This record gives sequence, structure tokens and C-alpha cells, in this order.
Amino acid sequence: MSVAQALRQPWRKLRAGLLRRWPAEAQARALMAGYRRAGWATRWEQELRLRICPFEEVIQRVPKEGIVLDLGCGFGALSHLLAMDSAQRRVIGIEQMAHRVEVARRAIGGLSNLEFLVGDIHKVAFVPANCIIMNDVLHHIPHDRQIPLLKKCYEGLLPGGSLLIKDVTKSPVSKYIWNYIHDFLRNGNLPFYCLDAAILHALLGLVGFVTTMQRLDEGYPYPHILYVCNKPATGEGQGTHNAAAERS
Ligand SMILES: C[S@@+](CC[C@H](N)C(=O)[O-])C[C@H]1O[C@@H](n2cnc3c(N)ncnc32)[C@H](O)[C@@H]1O
Repeated sequence: MSVAQALRQPWRKLRAGLLRRWPAEAQARALMAGYRRAGWATRWEQELRLRICPFEEVIQRVPKEGIVLDLGCGFGALSHLLAMDSAQRRVIGIEQMAHRVEVARRAIGGLSNLEFLVGDIHKVAFVPANCIIMNDVLHHIPHDRQIPLLKKCYEGLLPGGSLLIKDVTKSPVSKYIWNYIHDFLRNGNLPFYCLDAAILHALLGLVGFVTTMQRLDEGYPYPHILYVCNKPATGEGQGTHNAAAERS
């Protein structure tokens, strides 16, 4: 590698992550317009999330039609983006913090395919869904509740449906530490139970999902990783799933 190439490398990486164009594009701006009545701290946080979280990579993998559950939707940014992206999706965001749901609801505007519920994702009954999303949520779920929740997602999906988990992993360690500090400062009230990618991948297999993983952390200080977990369209995966369910 030449010196010039070596110097360009960090810039190229940053452009793939924090400096990418997407936060300035129409959908992201429309989202922020929806939050105009929210307090400045919430608006600032959503603006920041558009930059530090690769929402657009998640959106690309969500079917354009059908029921989509966004579990632990927070202030609802991803739910809004999904509903704006396709009127054929019915998006339901579920969040335990009532004040976050209130902010999310106030931002709905004219979107008739979007709704928010206050509830605990361990307890709320899921409507049969084409896609379930957990965006930066699973690492806030205590270890002993993760497998039951993954199983609940499997059961809540229609055959052929998918669970998308955008989470953080434990490597590289510098990004893991940075993420831990961020979560401690912002979500200190929530538990932090990050799983190593290989372990989560194995757990998803036990639950019955056929999973592909993709790192999405180039240019970000966070160890973003996306798990696309497919529930088989036929009953084929069901035997494995039930057996695993009995064992765990
Ligand atoms: C880091 S935030 C991510 C918010 C949103 N998914 C996003 O990407 O902007 C994690 C969210 O999950 C929610 N959460 C954690 N456990 C939950 C539970 N058991 N039921 C409902 N929401 C939960 C938290 O309240 C918090 O708003």
C-alpha cells in the first residue's frame, strides 16, 4: 500500500460510517421534521442516532409489505423510517418507557401505517408478524431472558418471516469499551448484557433460525453487527426449534 493510500484509508472508513451521506437525505430529514415538537435533548439524541447507528442498513432488509414489530423502539425513529419507506408495511413499535412512546406518538403526523404501544416485550402478546426487529435492544435484556425472548420472536413470526437483530458485539475490544461507556452514560438504568457474536449466532440456531451475520461497523466507534434470522417457510425448521425449546 502506498503512503497516499494509507493516508486515505481512515478517511474512507469514516465516510462509510459517521460521515456517510444518509443522515442528510430526504427520509432522515422528514423523520427529524416529525420530532420538531419534541424537546431539544430528544431531537439532538435522534439526530445523533441517525449518525451513529446504521438504520438504513436495517431498513433495506425489512420486507416492503406486511406486519413489522419494532421491539424496544425507544423514541420510535426506526419505526417512523420504516413506515415512511413503505405504506404497505404496518409498523408497530413496542416500548416499556411511556414517555418515549408519547414522544414517538406525537411525531406520527399523517402516517396511518404506524402505531406505538407501551409494554414489556417479554409480556405483550405479539400479533403474527412478517418481520420483527430489535435494534440495540438485545444487549439490554438479561442473559436468562434472552433465549425465551428469541423463542417468543420465533413463535411470533409467520413462516418465512425474519427477525432482524442490530446489536453490538464484544470485538474489537476498543469499540466494545466505547459502547459500554456510551450505554453507561445514556442508559445507565438499563442492564448491559452484550453477547459475543458467535454465541448469539449459536443460540439463534438452537431456537430454529437460519442466520447470517454482517458486521456494519466500518467507520463507526461502535461494534455494530446485524443478524438476519430467517424462520423457515415450511415446517422443516420446526422440529429443531421445538427440540431446542425443550432443552433450554
Ligand atoms: C438503546 S435503546 C434503542 C431504542 C431504539 N430501538 C433505537 O434503535 O433507537 C433500547 C430500548 O429498549 C427498550 N427496552 C429494553 N427492555 C425492554 C422491554 N423489556 N420491553 C420494552 N422495551 C424495552 C428500552 O426502554 C430502550 O428504549
